[in-house]
Amino acid sequence: MLNPARVRSYQHLTAGDLVPPTSPRVFFEPADTETGVWVARDLITDGCSVLDLGAGSGAAAAAMARAGAARVHGIDSGRETVAWAAEHYASPGGDPRVTIAHADFARLTTEELLATAPAPLPRPLVVTSNPPYVPLAERADARRPSISGGPDGLKWAPAIIGHARALDSDLGLTIASYSTPRRAVHLLRDAGYRVRGITLCPLPLGEFTLRHLERILALEQSGEAVLWRRPDDLTPAYFILGLACRRAHRHPDVPDPTGDDLMRLLRTAARSRTTRLETLDAPRQITHHVPLRVLDLPAATVRTHW
Ligand SMILES: C[S@@+](CC[C@H](N)C(=O)[O-])C[C@H]1O[C@@H](n2cnc3c(N)ncnc32)[C@H](O)[C@@H]1O
Repeated sequence: MLNPARVRSYQHLTAGDLVPPTSPRVFFEPADTETGVWVARDLITDGCSVLDLGAGSGAAAAAMARAGAARVHGIDSGRETVAWAAEHYASPGGDPRVTIAHADFARLTTEELLATAPAPLPRPLVVTSNPPYVPLAERADARRPSISGGPDGLKWAPAIIGHARALDSDLGLTIASYSTPRRAVHLLRDAGYRVRGITLCPLPLGEFTLRHLERILALEQSGEAVLWRRPDDLTPAYFILGLACRRAHRHPDVPDPTGDDLMRLLRTAARSRTTRLETLDAPRQITHHVPLRVLDLPAATVRTHW
């Protein structure tokens, strides 16, 4: 029995965080952001610091501080995004535990990334990222930097995993059920990470993604992406997929799900009729159990990406 924990309301984002930013170049999809915070929460210990790669509006960073991190330092490559986050969430005017810097995490070394923080980050350090993860064909990809994840949705994963590994930190990574999750687990395991907690959140596909679905459909056909196709709803949906990962050498004997286990889990979820993902309650053949959480959240009417 998987017996997932179910959460039916936003527990981390505040009412203010659920209001869309007035700047069009600030990512806004609250279910996505809330999922990333749950993943961080699985890894945060009192007094730790979080390095959040692709921090967006800063709402997630502030929520991670409220969830127990002593410091959260966010990095984002969008200038308007960073201006928004600095004004609304970071110190000096916002939460004193939150800082934000303008930087490209794929271009900087890990040391250079840490040096963008105004003061050294206390250890232990957790790396989190809810990066652009939509698999898009090249032309569409170039048009939407805040969601474009390259041909398999994992364009940014090697850089993120590389930084976490260089820091010997635990890693919270949020992707989607269509972002080649099996490959994501392979990349994580190759780098010495083990998935120790899974958060799933069903979400309708966004308008832009629906208009540029070719790559996702090709991945689905090849068995590397899972969409949720309900008989009563012609428009496919997907699952946001939060992976709380720990360094294997610190937990050597704990069994963990493989990429195949994860695909089986997603396919089971995709047989559900409701956003509760009720099929996950049935006895299953998944060999390695890790804590599983289902976020059954009201979908936002507005979503902003650029
Ligand atoms: C999908 S949004 C998520 C934002 C935030 N983590 C959240 O959950 O609300 C991805 C963010 O990553 C940023 N980003 C994309 N590539 C980046 C890179 N190479 N370096 C830094 N930030 C990047 C984008 O500007 C965008 O704000």
